[in-house]
Amino acid sequence: MSEDLNKNIASEIKKRRTFAIISHPDAGKTTLTEKFLLYGGAINTAGSVKGKANSKYAVSDWMEIEKERGISVTSSVLQFNYDGYCINILDTPGHQDFSEDTYRTLMAADSAVMVIDASKGVEAQTIKLFKVCVMRHIPIFTFINKMDLEARDPFELLDDIESVLGIRTCPINWPIGSGKRFKGVYDRFSKQVSMFKAVSVGGAKSAAETDYAVEDEALKAEIGDELYNQLLDEIELLDGASDELNQELVDKGELSPVFFGSALTTFGVETFLEHFLKMTQSPLARMSDEGLIDPATEPFSGFIFKIQANMNKAHHDRIAFMRICSGKFDATKEVFHMQGGKKMRLSQPQQIMAQDRKVIDEAYAGDVIGVFDPGVFSIGDTLCMPAHKFKYEGIPTFAPEHFCRVVQLDSMKRKQFNKGVTQLAQEGAIQIFQDYTLGLSEIIVGVVGVLQFDVLKYRLENEYGCDIRLEPLPYNYIRWVKDKTIDLNKLKRITDCKKVKDMRDNPLLLFANEWSIRLMLENNEGLELEEFSRD
Ligand code: G4P
Repeated sequence: MSEDLNKNIASEIKKRRTFAIISHPDAGKTTLTEKFLLYGGAINTAGSVKGKANSKYAVSDWMEIEKERGISVTSSVLQFNYDGYCINILDTPGHQDFSEDTYRTLMAADSAVMVIDASKGVEAQTIKLFKVCVMRHIPIFTFINKMDLEARDPFELLDDIESVLGIRTCPINWPIGSGKRFKGVYDRFSKQVSMFKAVSVGGAKSAAETDYAVEDEALKAEIGDELYNQLLDEIELLDGASDELNQELVDKGELSPVFFGSALTTFGVETFLEHFLKMTQSPLARMSDEGLIDPATEPFSGFIFKIQANMNKAHHDRIAFMRICSGKFDATKEVFHMQGGKKMRLSQPQQIMAQDRKVIDEAYAGDVIGVFDPGVFSIGDTLCMPAHKFKYEGIPTFAPEHFCRVVQLDSMKRKQFNKGVTQLAQEGAIQIFQDYTLGLSEIIVGVVGVLQFDVLKYRLENEYGCDIRLEPLPYNYIRWVKDKTIDLNKLKRITDCKKVKDMRDNPLLLFANEWSIRLMLENNEGLELEEFSRD
């Protein structure tokens, strides 16, 4: 490869920032994403990102379920340019019926933006997603949203993040009042106050019009003595007590820079974006069975983190989402599929944009593209160049929280049933288990969000012609048994627990509550249980 070409690839990669936005539903993730896109000029009007009720995505049949419920089950990837950066936002489904895909999307991101509703603080779904970010040690940025509405005390919100999530925080800016009394934010680094003025909600222009130095008398006149004195007190307290901004800790995901703002009124969004882009890094080296793979000097490689089925029912089409981890993807060149052990050309490579899909012929490390999957890919598979073969570390299996026994209603259709269940498990929408003793005569499915049960039933009926009945099981916790050679039948004093094995015969335990997990561990010395599986 020529030196110029290499330089060009390296500079394209350097421009990339790939991050996921996580939040509890309704905290404002969609609104914030939309404002980012407005700044990048990728869309012209607010309200065009998700279009909750009238999605413009290619519609597959089972997506009827999402349309009926007015939610988005599938995640998408949005790419735009801003200030010399090429930004990839990985959207994670926001409804509480989110799936394992939501977790897996975080495996493809280099950092995460956590949106928190200022009146609520940290909520359940954020906690779950946050745990995955911590496992990956990726930087986590916090945007405390909806300051234009009555908010909780900002110190309390920081305490909440620190105590519930166990991450240290460093406020970059600080709010002056909230709700009707929201006056603006104080930037702790420039020591300037940006005054809040609500503007039309669809606009890309920042709501902040005026900046004051904190000691400016005009500021005091504008916000009144009480808020002004409170601000000075709070600045003193913050400077004395809060963590200093330490980029190394930010990079390791141990310290979260915190921003206050209001996505709907576009206040604080641009400041956030600017700081965020400076504080995050371009794609970093990833671990493989050959050690770290450098994104800029190695040729093309990537891994599959999501498989979206049946975009076209007649052909059982599947789209595999690939995160490119090194080099440049060139659609005209053959690549090597490690797990399949075969050379192949990736057909119909496409970028999944906000409103449509665009066929592409090149992409760079940091980008996420969709490729046609002729039924050969599984989650976690590596694609690389035939001349340099290696495998990236696998994607963990995340713990499902809901379990059902699957009863097949027509025993004549055993073959279709097996095929359907296996394919759906391969896509990663569901996990399949069998009873530890009865084996395949008792099939159990586990899902992260209960909506996946409806999807499973719908798809088995519509695509594989199998009617099933799902019988809920009273378990919400699953644990992988670390020592795979243990005979589960020899465990002592088991209560509220079911013994199962996965399709590779790994032993697992299902529990009704955390108390039973503790009891099991107390009664069985040396037993080690795990929340994720890396197999
Ligand atoms: P999500 O993707 O995290 O689920 O949240 P989304 O952006 O859809 O926002 C949820 C609701 O909160 C929306 O109102 C949105 O307009 C509102 N919202 C988001 N950010 C702010 C903010 O900074 N201030 C205020 N006041 N509201 C905010 P909705 O009525 O549920 O939906 P819509 O009809 O406005 O779309």
